[in-house]
Amino acid sequence: MFKTILIWVFGALFLLQAIQIDIPEPEAIDPKELIQAPEEIMTMLKTSCYDCHSYETKMPWYGNVAPISWEVRSHIKQGRAWLNFQKWGTYDEEKKQKLYKGIAKSISLSMPIPMYLSLHDEAKLTRAQRNSIRKWAQSYIKDEN
Ligand code: HEC
Repeated sequence: MFKTILIWVFGALFLLQAIQIDIPEPEAIDPKELIQAPEEIMTMLKTSCYDCHSYETKMPWYGNVAPISWEVRSHIKQGRAWLNFQKWGTYDEEKKQKLYKGIAKSISLSMPIPMYLSLHDEAKLTRAQRNSIRKWAQSYIKDEN
């Protein structure tokens, strides 16, 4: 009985592997389009945000194993669509303002995504680090509306 269940479970997991979310290939990166920030900020963005908000995604092994990969890959896909630090130069001023505000807000609440942080110790930010990212983003915000 137990063996039969195991076989079904593994069989089902095996079949799930056929369903995969495709992440579009990175477009050519133009150095002029990269976000410009002081080195201290850049380092934090790279270690804590780039996996989902740039083309430089370090895909973990479970990023290839369904069904976990669906979650991982949809985060990457959506993350890049909302904000790609390597496409920053292509955004108009309105979008940049929205994103600076979004960064200032989300850095203390929701970003990086908690589930991601539970698996990525290296991406954890201290309160002081979050503060400096917030201050950096706020320095570009033109009005408070
Ligand atoms: C594990 C993937 C992941 C990581 C890492 C991550 N994000 Fe996100 N981010 C997302 C996804 C997915 C969205 C799309 C909207 C949502 O789900 O909230 C998003 C949306 C955003 C937005 C736009 C939404 C808003 O509130 O304006 C901002 C700004 C943002 N992220 C900033 C950051 C910053 C800054 C970091 C690094 C400190 C970061 N994110 C790290 C996945 C990620």
